[in-house]
Amino acid sequence: MMKIPKLLFAGLLFTILIPLILGNGIPSGQNDFIAKSFSVAGPLYENLLKTTAGNSKDYPHSLNPDGSIKYLQIDEWTGGFWPGILWSMYEYTGDEKWKTQAKVWTESLESNQFNTAHHDIGFMMFNSYGKALKFEQNPKYKEILIQSAKSLCKRYSPVVGSIQSWNERKSKGEINTWSYPVIMDNMMNLELLFYASKETGDVTYRNVAISHAELTMKNHLRADFSSFHVVNYDPAKGKVLHRQTLQGFSDNSTWARGQAWGIYGFAACYRETGDKRFLEAAIGMADFYLNHKKLPADKVPYWDFNAGENGYRPDWDYQPSLYKEIPRDASAAAITSSALLELSQLVRGKKRKTYFSAAGFMLKSLSTDQYLNTGQANPYFLLKHSTGNFPSGREIDVPLIYADYYYLEALLKYGHILKAGKS
Ligand code: GLY
Repeated sequence: MMKIPKLLFAGLLFTILIPLILGNGIPSGQNDFIAKSFSVAGPLYENLLKTTAGNSKDYPHSLNPDGSIKYLQIDEWTGGFWPGILWSMYEYTGDEKWKTQAKVWTESLESNQFNTAHHDIGFMMFNSYGKALKFEQNPKYKEILIQSAKSLCKRYSPVVGSIQSWNERKSKGEINTWSYPVIMDNMMNLELLFYASKETGDVTYRNVAISHAELTMKNHLRADFSSFHVVNYDPAKGKVLHRQTLQGFSDNSTWARGQAWGIYGFAACYRETGDKRFLEAAIGMADFYLNHKKLPADKVPYWDFNAGENGYRPDWDYQPSLYKEIPRDASAAAITSSALLELSQLVRGKKRKTYFSAAGFMLKSLSTDQYLNTGQANPYFLLKHSTGNFPSGREIDVPLIYADYYYLEALLKYGHILKAGKS
């Protein structure tokens, strides 16, 4: 056997082996921001838990203008993020106190398995019950997820070939009526369907997901892989009637969070199907985001890539003078970083490095005092500077529960990839 000189062995021990062991397998230094972020998160989420002690009916969503917590109720789209955050806290710390609360909040969503009022059941149930399955194979949780997938499929029309996101409603500015609106965000509900097919062996759910993703690729994406927010179909004939926006700047603009949902959703579809068209969509959307001339240096986007730009006309009253600069959307960066980490594992070579390092760069930006709530600017949420719905004047430059959720998810993924040496 080759003999390693004593001095060289000591060098190896101190520079590589000990940091690897102490850093949970991740080379020392590379994960400092992960540890810091989880330690900032702990006290904030302890505070948030206290505000709802004994009541798992009010789901933390954001802050009201007066600084109080904005809660949403069980039927709204963000209920699954709070339990998902608690599962992430448990995953990182291993502390049972987080698991106990994660279970309470997950199980509080049980009746949502029958919710067919909108498409958001995937957000609600897969980010709570779906995350829970990482930690316990509870048969009841599986049943609930399968029923949730059934409920989601009730909003699928074979005539259109897509899942209807919202019920009939007026467009922004009441310019027309959307009878069968499908939004880019809906790509995020498809993982629930892939799961249900794997669990039951029934391919119906998976086929719905594939049809939905194919149609989204065809009708929501532009030639440059930017995206429309809303596509409205004729429910009787399945034809596209309108391509518009509700939360973006204008119909022809690219709403930053919509683009983020698309990258995440198509990457997941490629992982589940191996269909290269979905990979191409995810890569195209990611490259659009990363190479956009208006992406700020810290890679945390403005709430819309085209906000205020010539050639983009909003159907609402835009008053730029109200803001010193165009507000950012940290939630879009958090979702995108998680999506890019997924994507990095689905490709090889240069592309893997590009997506992994872009995700790391975004996460490091979000982990600076600019975005991370290190000084307890508010006592409850981890990330600052997200934008929920700018055109409606709601949730501008605020914390949002889903920004925290995807940020923690991405931090965990980043750590796992580094540990596995797959960066
Ligand atoms: N679908 C909700 C959002 O991204 O605002």
